[in-house]
Amino acid sequence: MTTTPMQVCKVFFTLSTAKNTKGLGCFGWLLVLISLLFVTATLPLTIFMCVKIVKEYERAVIFRLGRITDRKPKGPGLFFVLPCTDTFVKVDLRTVSFDIPPQEILTRDSVTVSVDGVVYFCIQCPISSVANVSNAHSSTRLLAQTTLRNVLGTKNLAELLSDREGISHSMQESLDVATNPWGIKVERVEIKDVKLPQQLQRAMAAEAEASREARAKIISAEGEMNASRALKEASLIISESPSALQLRYLQTLHTIAAEKNSTIIFPMPMDILQNFMKLA
Ligand SMILES: *[C@@H]1O[C@H](CO)[C@@H](O)[C@H](O)[C@H]1NC(C)=O
Ligand SMILES: *[C@@H]1O[C@H](CO)[C@@H](O)[C@H](O)[C@H]1NC(C)=O
Ligand SMILES: *[C@@H]1O[C@H](CO)[C@@H](O)[C@H](O)[C@H]1NC(C)=O
Repeated sequence: MTTTPMQVCKVFFTLSTAKNTKGLGCFGWLLVLISLLFVTATLPLTIFMCVKIVKEYERAVIFRLGRITDRKPKGPGLFFVLPCTDTFVKVDLRTVSFDIPPQEILTRDSVTVSVDGVVYFCIQCPISSVANVSNAHSSTRLLAQTTLRNVLGTKNLAELLSDREGISHSMQESLDVATNPWGIKVERVEIKDVKLPQQLQRAMAAEAEASREARAKIISAEGEMNASRALKEASLIISESPSALQLRYLQTLHTIAAEKNSTIIFPMPMDILQNFMKLA
């Protein structure tokens, strides 16, 4: 932004008009006029006291005799104040982040968890942040802590672990509504860490292990069932012709011979045994 001498003159003119001094009363108006005369009388020197600069990301809220002069903050760049009658407060508009310290929270299903998070906010309305709250930053900080407790107190553990996104979102909304009169916009809330008590961690690990084991047992039983079904089918096929059983004997003998070549095995047909049992 460049400021021409023409603009400087215009600003000085508006300083002295009734618009900016309205609500000051007769005496206030007089004081402002005296101050203005004083400035113009000693112009080359006092110009340094009148011209102020704020950076691109800052705004200035000007108080003239204790009253906010304008509904709009000044800046960025150059602005003018009258010595003696004016004071001003600089407000930083950049996004600020802070950690919510770990909060011990009792969830709805009576589990104590320790939760911490990060909040990002920025000042949207400089005038409200100066006029409506004594310390906007620390107030937001404290409010974030209590909001975290309130929001998480209504959730149970499963929701807390699975729905972080939703929790962050609802927290951001309720924080934003509360900080609105202070001119603060809460941009993001992130849940950083959820710490479970040691005992509960062990219990949950045991539960997961047990369910895995149960699944393993079911799979093995199913396999057994499949195998027995396959065996039954095989036996049905073999029983269709007696010579198939003979071939199976020979195959088994061949396998054994290859593995244990010093052992001699003599197969005894079951039919013979059956004949003996009939005799008995
Ligand atoms: C201060 O907060 C009130 C609501 O509580 C709001 O109406 C008012 O505009 C705020 N003040 C400023 C200067 O914005
Ligand atoms: C058992 O057989 C069924 C189909 O007949 C199959 O879906 C299942 O995967 C089998 N189980 C195992 C453990 O192989
Ligand atoms: C018997 O098997 C062993 C290995 O198990 C082998 O070294 C040996 O040569 C075999 N003997 C005959 C007679 O095939």
